[in-house]
Amino acid sequence: MSLLEVHDVDKSFTSDGGVVPVLRGVRLAVPAGQMHAITGPSGSGKSTLLRILACLDAPDAGRVLLGGEPLPEPWSAGGDRHRNRRCGIVLQDFALMEHATALENVMLPLRYGPRRLPRAEQRRRAAEALEGVGLGPRSGHRARTLSGGEKQRVAVARALINDPPLVLADEPTGALDQARSREVVDLLRAAVGPERAVVVVTHDPRVAAACDRRWHLEDGRLLGED
Ligand SMILES: Nc1ncnc2c1ncn2[C@@H]1O[C@H](COP(=O)(O)OP(=O)(O)O)[C@@H](O)[C@H]1O
Ligand SMILES: [Mg+2]
Repeated sequence: MSLLEVHDVDKSFTSDGGVVPVLRGVRLAVPAGQMHAITGPSGSGKSTLLRILACLDAPDAGRVLLGGEPLPEPWSAGGDRHRNRRCGIVLQDFALMEHATALENVMLPLRYGPRRLPRAEQRRRAAEALEGVGLGPRSGHRARTLSGGEKQRVAVARALINDPPLVLADEPTGALDQARSREVVDLLRAAVGPERAVVVVTHDPRVAAACDRRWHLEDGRLLGED
């Protein structure tokens, strides 16, 4: 059994032009201890798949299992719990609270974490997480004053703060230059652990090359490379 298993997932959207199938019979397995890449043309459904893994959207058919358990309904208390504790997400545009400090951004998921920690402990943990991504000295700086690479490192620290088994990243290096991309990929790689897997959606062949396995999404089908 893999940490993350996707079985025969279908997803369509309805628009003015009718029903648009986006994912068709998608199968995916990601063991703990690995980082997998999902590539594919723009509009091929990569973000849609990631949203399903994050429990931000539900498949029309098929099943997603994390640690052997089916994902809850997105619009349920279980869905909130999944998003807060079971998966951390890093997005291309960082999605930080721009007026809050780096530390406050990283602390936010702790409010909804598995245990209610005293505020001093929350601060200590968030500070440690920022140290871990090399941003200790910037912890009191407001997000809007940070560079793109620094913001993305804050986003990685925030994604990891509740120690989730699954880390998802959607084009996490898309807005960064080559050197900054490398740093973020290294941090995601370092986040892989014996009980954790990372799934990265990427256009960048260098990011894909840094992964243990690559999957390609096209015409609604997900194909494994090897
Ligand atoms: N909420 C939605 N409603 C309608 N269509 C959507 C929605 N989300 C995505 N789509 C459509 O699904 C397709 C795949 O989108 P997306 O998953 O964002 O692709 P990618 O991330 O690979 O660029 C696109 O045609 C997009 O327009
Ligand atoms: Mg996308």
